[in-house]
Amino acid sequence: MLGAGQYKSFKHTQLLMWSSIHLRNFKMVWPTFLQFTFLLFLPTVTDAHFPRPCITPEALAEGRCCPDWNGSPCGAEYGRGECKQFFDTRLTGLTAQFTFFCSCKDNFDSYDCSRCKFGYKGDNCTERQHYVRREILTLSPEERTRYIDNLHKAKVSRSERYVILIVDRDKPQNNELLKFENASVYDLFVWVHYYAGKAPAGGGQRNAAHQGPAFPFWHRNYLLFMEREVREITGDENFFIPYWDWTKTDYCNICNNDFFGASDASGRIRNSEFSKWKTICTYDASHTDYSQICVQPPQNVPPSPIIRNPGKDPESGGLPLPQQVQAVLDTNDYDTYPYNKCSCNSFRNRLEGFDLKMESRTFSAAMHNLVHDYFNGTMSDVPIAANDPLFMLHHAMIDKIFEEWLLKHPDMKYPIDDVIPPIQQHDAFMRPFIPPVLNDYLVGVTAEELGYRYE
Ligand SMILES: *[C@@H]1O[C@H](CO)[C@@H](O)[C@H](O)[C@H]1NC(C)=O
Ligand SMILES: *[C@@H]1O[C@H](CO)[C@@H](O)[C@H](O)[C@H]1NC(C)=O
Ligand SMILES: *[C@@H]1O[C@H](CO)[C@@H](O)[C@H](O)[C@H]1NC(C)=O
Repeated sequence: MLGAGQYKSFKHTQLLMWSSIHLRNFKMVWPTFLQFTFLLFLPTVTDAHFPRPCITPEALAEGRCCPDWNGSPCGAEYGRGECKQFFDTRLTGLTAQFTFFCSCKDNFDSYDCSRCKFGYKGDNCTERQHYVRREILTLSPEERTRYIDNLHKAKVSRSERYVILIVDRDKPQNNELLKFENASVYDLFVWVHYYAGKAPAGGGQRNAAHQGPAFPFWHRNYLLFMEREVREITGDENFFIPYWDWTKTDYCNICNNDFFGASDASGRIRNSEFSKWKTICTYDASHTDYSQICVQPPQNVPPSPIIRNPGKDPESGGLPLPQQVQAVLDTNDYDTYPYNKCSCNSFRNRLEGFDLKMESRTFSAAMHNLVHDYFNGTMSDVPIAANDPLFMLHHAMIDKIFEEWLLKHPDMKYPIDDVIPPIQQHDAFMRPFIPPVLNDYLVGVTAEELGYRYE
């Protein structure tokens, strides 16, 4: 790891080296036109992370994902929800495998209406939830240890609720060919992000979570989803994802053995429990070919470890500055035409980090993207980035900035425009969450209403 002093001189060199803007943009690789056209004609296979009870041959054949709660589908007998047909008029691929899901009532949530909506707790989901997401460095050593222990537990504990799909999506639609794998709670988290970045099975628009108006809302839902899963698996009801305020440092001050592990010159983490973490979905350069399902390496190929070289890449050798965050917050429009990575004067695009005008012109990325690229390894490859536990802390910081902006713009509207890719339209389903919710589902809802706030 680079010390603070080393880092400063390093940064100085880079300032001289990179005087123009390099649009490498967080390494999102769009399929070529030919690949894209090809994908459109592939038969639909499936689309979603799979609730364990929904992978029975019957459920798959009927396209019905309405598991029982307390003896009745969706807990209907107890008024929790009902099994309903969901249509997505814009995306044929989205609910390809299932058309029936639970529609939960009141404050009930999850694929079987057995859980509470974000912001609620208790047996009947009538109690409000309040927790505070704090800055990682403000946790006491005991709190930090508990957080890290919870992560390790999530990394090794099999998800009881979900399985992941590991079948090649190029295969024809046929339930017999669907193959599922157990995954740990943490690996499920990795997989959901991986999956949101790829094309829906059967082809079509990929990238449900980046380069468009869904970006901050998708990631908000994602962190809440993960917090709920980790609370369940660890039994720690107070579990929360801390944020890492990278504006308060000019190097990775949590890349050491007291926190998330120090890496050596090869980028490998040493002498930390995190050195044992194996990444998923890294095999076969699946990140450069988005049409590939997340496959495990063959037996003779060992799974890759987390790689981190903080600050090593001169194109992204620094972290965003407080005044740059302020400039993002001062942007009034939530998003602007054409609602992608080329949007100008768009809060969303500046936060995501494609609008380089906001940043010192030194780096090839800004804000959210810059922090990813800064790590020059696992974190800087979109589809596999969540393999690194720093991902959560970084995205909690992004969500904190988002919340600050939302509180100043309570009337913000999710953009409605045909130019937005179908998958990120306001009335398309947020992929791959089950039961389906729309991309604008969290619009007009504050973090406080979702049960949390930032310190
Ligand atoms: C939850 O609701 C059920 C049925 O309405 C009721 O019997 C039960 O007492 C409630 N539990 C609590 C803790 O309020
Ligand atoms: C998942 O784990 C359970 C329990 O260990 C096992 O019964 C099941 O066969 C596993 N499923 C797959 C697809 O490996
Ligand atoms: C790491 O930085 C080097 C330049 O120093 C660059 O060539 C390489 O692509 C970067 N790797 C990743 C994974 O970002």
